[in-house]
Amino acid sequence: MVKQLFGLYGASGFGQEILYWLRLELQKRADPSRIVFIDDGASKVELEGLAVMPYEEFLRQPEGVKWATIAVADAGIRQRIDSKLQADGIEQYPIRGDYTFVRGAILSEGSVLSAFVDITSNVKVGRCFHANTYSYVGHDCVIGDYVTFAPRVSCNGNVHIHDHAYIGTGAIIKQGTPDKPLVIGQGAVVGMGAVVTKDVPPGATVVGNPAKPLVRR
Ligand SMILES: CC(C)(COP(=O)(O)OP(=O)(O)OC[C@H]1O[C@@H](n2cnc3c(N)ncnc32)[C@H](O)[C@@H]1OP(=O)(O)O)[C@@H](O)C(=O)NCCC(=O)NCCS
Repeated sequence: MVKQLFGLYGASGFGQEILYWLRLELQKRADPSRIVFIDDGASKVELEGLAVMPYEEFLRQPEGVKWATIAVADAGIRQRIDSKLQADGIEQYPIRGDYTFVRGAILSEGSVLSAFVDITSNVKVGRCFHANTYSYVGHDCVIGDYVTFAPRVSCNGNVHIHDHAYIGTGAIIKQGTPDKPLVIGQGAVVGMGAVVTKDVPPGATVVGNPAKPLVRR
């Protein structure tokens, strides 16, 4: 088997979480490839027994085949790293935790699905989607690029979530209909525990049950 190099971009808590799944996958297929963390601002040189290196150093490593997975929650940073990887021809390695189901969904490059995530039928998902544990995406949903689901997001059917939106832990999003999907606008934030019953405008932050714009005192 060819020895490849897998780079987890982001030596952070989330990087460490998804390292578990990548290690397990390589172990299961007795793959001798090497894993490193890529981090351009890290003060440490080692994490979890693996080398931590800046991106330029990752590019200089001797392995002929290199993969990267972006383990960064911030959507803007994720987009910038994604553009860089595409420009350098580095493919992104998808992460799948145990008991993840992707049934008849089309996922673009760079998806990271933690354990127990369920992406159901006729779903389209954009680039670098992160879905944390126990989240699901119901039928006929359309998810944009660089969207993030924290743990236990319940996204019911016919919901359209635009680019860069962030959905907090335990949020529940009401289903739309085929002719009137419920829309979460670009860059919107849905707070943890929110119950979203109506469209959320681009850039808005909503919280509560039923979800309303966050008012800061
Ligand atoms: C909604 C959210 C983005 C707001 O963050 P923030 O801008 O830092 O807001 P603050 O913590 O300053 O809170 C502002 C006010 O909103 C309230 N608030 C914050 N989040 C809330 C939520 N999810 N539901 C209800 N009220 C909330 C706070 O109690 C505070 O109220 P106060 O002004 O009466 O004291 C954030 O609280 C949130 O829910 N993030 C998602 C967290 C998550 O899921 N993490 C997963 C990690 S894997």
